[in-house]
Order: sequence, then C-alpha cells, then structure tokens
Amino acid sequence: MIKINQNYLKLRGSYLFSNIAKKVSAFTEAHPEANIIRLGIGDVTRPLTPSIIKAIHDATDEMASEQTFKGYAPDLGYSFLRETIAKNDYEARGCDIAADEIFVSDGAKCDSGNIQEIFSEDSKIAVCDPVYPVYVDTNVMAGRTGVFDEKTEQWSDVIYMPCTEATGFAPELPEKTPDIIYICSPNNPTGSAMKKADLQKWVDYANEKKAVIIFDAAYEAYISEDDVPHSIYECKGARTCAIEIRSFSKNAGFTGVRLGFTVIPKDLKDADGNSLHALWARRHGTKYNGAPYIIQKAGEAVYSEQGKAEIRGLVSYYMENAKMILDGLKEAGFSVSGGVNAPYIWLKTPDNMTSWEFFDYLLEKVNIVGTPGSGFGPSGEGYFRLTAFGSHENTKAAVERIKGLK
Ligand code: MLT
Repeated sequence: MIKINQNYLKLRGSYLFSNIAKKVSAFTEAHPEANIIRLGIGDVTRPLTPSIIKAIHDATDEMASEQTFKGYAPDLGYSFLRETIAKNDYEARGCDIAADEIFVSDGAKCDSGNIQEIFSEDSKIAVCDPVYPVYVDTNVMAGRTGVFDEKTEQWSDVIYMPCTEATGFAPELPEKTPDIIYICSPNNPTGSAMKKADLQKWVDYANEKKAVIIFDAAYEAYISEDDVPHSIYECKGARTCAIEIRSFSKNAGFTGVRLGFTVIPKDLKDADGNSLHALWARRHGTKYNGAPYIIQKAGEAVYSEQGKAEIRGLVSYYMENAKMILDGLKEAGFSVSGGVNAPYIWLKTPDNMTSWEFFDYLLEKVNIVGTPGSGFGPSGEGYFRLTAFGSHENTKAAVERIKGLK
C-alpha cells in the first residue's frame, strides 16, 4: 500500500515562483503581443564571464583525456575549491573558518531546504516575516510547523519575527524561545541588511539560548556599506551557534550551472555534544555525490584576480539597475526600500492594493512581472518586490512604464 508523507498535504498551494510563472504564462497565452518585462524571480540575466567560461572549457577538456578524466567528485567538495573559499571568503575577512568546515553543494536553495533534516522534529523554528518561502515550506514537509491558521496565515508552531516598516524591516528578538533561527542578510525579499552590531546581538542570543542560526548569505556580494557583515563569522561567538549558507548564483551568475556551499564549524554541537559538522558530513555523503568537477573549477575561477574583477562588474551592473528602480519609483511617489546592499527593491503597493492586486495591475496595465510581498508571508501583504537582475534596457523601460501609471 502506498502511504505518502502526510506533511506534504499541508503545503499551501504551489511554490511561490511556480505560481507566478503559471500566471504569467496564462497571461502571455491570452496576450501574445504583450512585451513583458520580468522583474519577478531573482534570476540573473548577464552571461557567465570570460574567466568562468575559460575554466569550464579547460575542465571539460580535462574530462576528455584519459590522464585527467574525473569520476565522482569528493562528496564534500574538491579541496582546491574549499581552500580557495576559506582563504577568500573567510581568512581575508578575519573569520576563523577552515577549508574542511566548508561543504560544497549545488546551491543555496537545496542547502537551506535540506539543512533542517539534521534537527529533531520538535525543534521550534523562528523565521522573519516576510521570508524566503523555502525555509518554511521545507519545515512543513518535515512536520515541524503545526497547523495553518487561514485567518492569520501563520503556522501554529512557527515563531514569526515581523520585519515591517516599524522595525526597519529587521527582525527583533522573539518572545518565545526558538531552537532554529533563520536569518537572511542581505535580505530576500526586503533588501534590508543587518549591521554588524545587530547581528552580534543575534549571535549572543543564540549562544545564550543554545539555539542555532541558519544564516543565509546568498546576497553578500551586494553589500555596499562598511558596517554590514559579509559573514556571520565576523561576529564573536558565531562558531558555536551558526551555520552559513552561500551561493555562486547571485554574485557570479551560476543560477543555470549550480554551485553553493554551507559552512558548519566543528565547534557547533547539540546539548549532548554531538557535532553538527559530523552529522551534515554523514548526510551529504549519503545523499549527495558532489557538485560536478567542471562547475567546481568554474567556482575556483570566480576567486582569480580576473574573476573577482569580472564579478565586481556584474554586481555593479545589477546595482545600477537597483538605483534606477529606487530613484525612479521614489520620484513617482512610491515608498521604497532595499536596493542598497541587495538586488531587491521592496515597495509599498499604492492605493491600499493587496500585493496580488498590484501584481495583476502591473501585469495587465504595463506588462511588468514582480513578486507579491504576501507570497513571502503575512507581513509582506501590501508590499511588492522588484529585482535588479534585469537588463539595463528592460529596467529603464519598466521604471518608465510604472511612472506612466501615476
Ligand atoms: C528569489 O527570487 O527569491 C530567488 O530567485 C529564489 C532563489 O534564489 O531560489
């Protein structure tokens, strides 16, 4: 007899971005003439840069030779990449993270979804509201979220930390004590970013409560302000309470080739002294065969001098879009935030429209796709997210179209 995981039946509708894609394709079918500008999902549009393409070609050639062919990758990642990451992302920022505390993977989405597997089913999770939906949905799948309340649109067993205009779109320490705290900074979706002193408060809190912080730093390359930390390990005490997740998608444009990594310090243990590092290594080894050699070589190229210069170019290209959107929408009278340390702009919907009403309005009136804030959680209602990942031309056109609405 087939018996399914009943938790999956609790999931609400389809995944946010699949839902949007469905709506947009229905609209395009009905209006084939529409010139749609997509600023919804945070997917990059610039091609991979020359040093990355060269690394991919060279590694592909290695695969064609009997002498240099590679089979399975080491499940935790090739040491050439783990060492390069440790040196550039951590040592260079004064963080005490060793190469063997870095687990290479095929991306931050999978890691942020899978990491909850190593925690007990009754662990209490705390999430920002609005939140990247993967954190909540994967905990629903794991049976950790309780019952969904249609009125409040909240799960009974989840601790929500509202990030609203009143809190500067930052989470505040929760009243109930969580076991697992998800923090994404720079933030998806609001584009806000935590200052170092604020993040230090969370690290101190987590150590005091013996909780773990899952710190999603997928957007760290977009940080432009000095007092915003690039890694949680810049904070004192983070080695005993934090897991960090990183991505090559948003900085180097790897959304289509997939590469990311998770850091679990060896000092991170549960109350009985069990090592989370060892558990994740066991899990990774059992369920994962390693990111492809070709892509790990591409990842290494991101840290070459030429690679770094190219990545700076990509980031500033997208941040010019962010500025275009921020300035343009402000000029048009919108209340906007984000876009300074992140490629996301968070705006208040006009005329008290709900997030989905504004989604339909923009799609129908000016053929622009964005992401409804309420798709990220109840505190996102009345907000809307635009990404800076479009082309300059499309971003400029989108801003002009939105201005024309006013
Ligand atoms: C987003 O639009 O929020 C991101 O593209 C989602 C992701 O990176 O998985």
